Amino acid sequence: MLSFLSRQYAKNYFVITGFLVCFSLGDSALSHAEPAEKNMPNVTYSNPYFKGNKEEKNAQIKRLTSLFGVECDFCHNEDLTVFTDEGKKSKEMMKASVALGVECDYCHVDRKRYKENEQQARKMFELCEIMGTECSFCHAGKGKLTPKGETSKTAFVTRNWATEGTKRCLECHIEKKLFALNFYGWQVLNALKGLKGM
Ligand code: HEC
Ligand code: HEC
Ligand code: HEC
Ligand code: HEC
Repeated sequence: MLSFLSRQYAKNYFVITGFLVCFSLGDSALSHAEPAEKNMPNVTYSNPYFKGNKEEKNAQIKRLTSLFGVECDFCHNEDLTVFTDEGKKSKEMMKASVALGVECDYCHVDRKRYKENEQQARKMFELCEIMGTECSFCHAGKGKLTPKGETSKTAFVTRNWATEGTKRCLECHIEKKLFALNFYGWQVLNALKGLKGM
């Protein structure tokens, strides 16, 4: 009974502090209630991963923190001046998520496990590494491809990318140069133009 009461009390306490924090930002008399907020006066949520109003952005942070089952310091210190390796990786991951128009749980089940698109995603990260591209080179939001993405879609099929991987692309494209053509690539292009009578 006693522990039930104290749990109720703790619950109410959190609800009430939550309210106070929400409606009294900048009120220093109450700021002791949430030191994490107090030490982040310059929060701008400049990363385009964060969407909506302040509550929605905070909800996004809560979602990714609970998805990975970690504390904030798994990725960064309180005033966001120091990022761990996972934090730096997460910045890259946020870029990828924005390009795909998704959140972390599109690929992550938790800290260790992934969804069934894991292999596809890994190959995409590898392709970007080899070609020097970002996901936004080809992805323009949920279910949408850029014109270059459309070109790749054809190339993936004709060059058996699924089984042979990105190395095949280097027959005609220069490594780390955003799919610029190499000498052989230009020959192929000129031959194509010749075929089309251009
Ligand atoms: C899995 C890694 C990860 C976890 C866990 C995490 N964060 Fe972050 N957080 C980031 C990344 C990455 C950014 C974007 C930083 C950037 O783009 O400069 C960020 C940005 C923020 C921002 C916005 C800062 C700004 O002004 O742009 C706030 C506030 C924040 N985090 C608070 C928290 C809090 C509070 C927790 C714990 C409840 C938390 N984060 C947990 C990775 C994480
Ligand atoms: C398109 C799929 C995809 C999305 C979306 C995605 N991830 Fe990842 N993530 C991966 C894959 C695949 C790996 C493993 C390969 C690697 O480490 O590069 C990974 C690895 C990581 C790692 C390193 C794990 C470790 O133990 O080394 C972190 C941290 C991470 N992701 C955070 C995030 C966060 C935070 C988000 C959302 C902002 C996110 N990811 C969104 C696919 C994704
Ligand atoms: C060179 C172009 C290109 C780049 C760069 C690229 N992708 Fe893709 N991606 C594609 C194409 C084309 C498809 C297939 C779309 C289809 O079949 O409709 C695809 C499909 C996917 C899929 C499966 C379909 C989906 O939307 O869930 C994932 C996941 C994905 N890409 C993740 C990424 C990530 C993460 C990055 C950045 C690390 C990335 N891609 C970079 C071209 C690219
Ligand atoms: C046999 C040569 C050849 C191979 C192999 C090849 N490509 Fe290409 N690719 C070309 C040529 C030629 C062009 C330019 C003409 C065009 O846009 O159709 C091109 C254009 C592109 C473009 C557009 C670049 C831009 O800046 O507009 C993308 C993206 C691309 N290829 C992706 C790929 C991918 C991904 C692979 C590997 C799966 C691949 N290509 C393999 C010959 C090749």
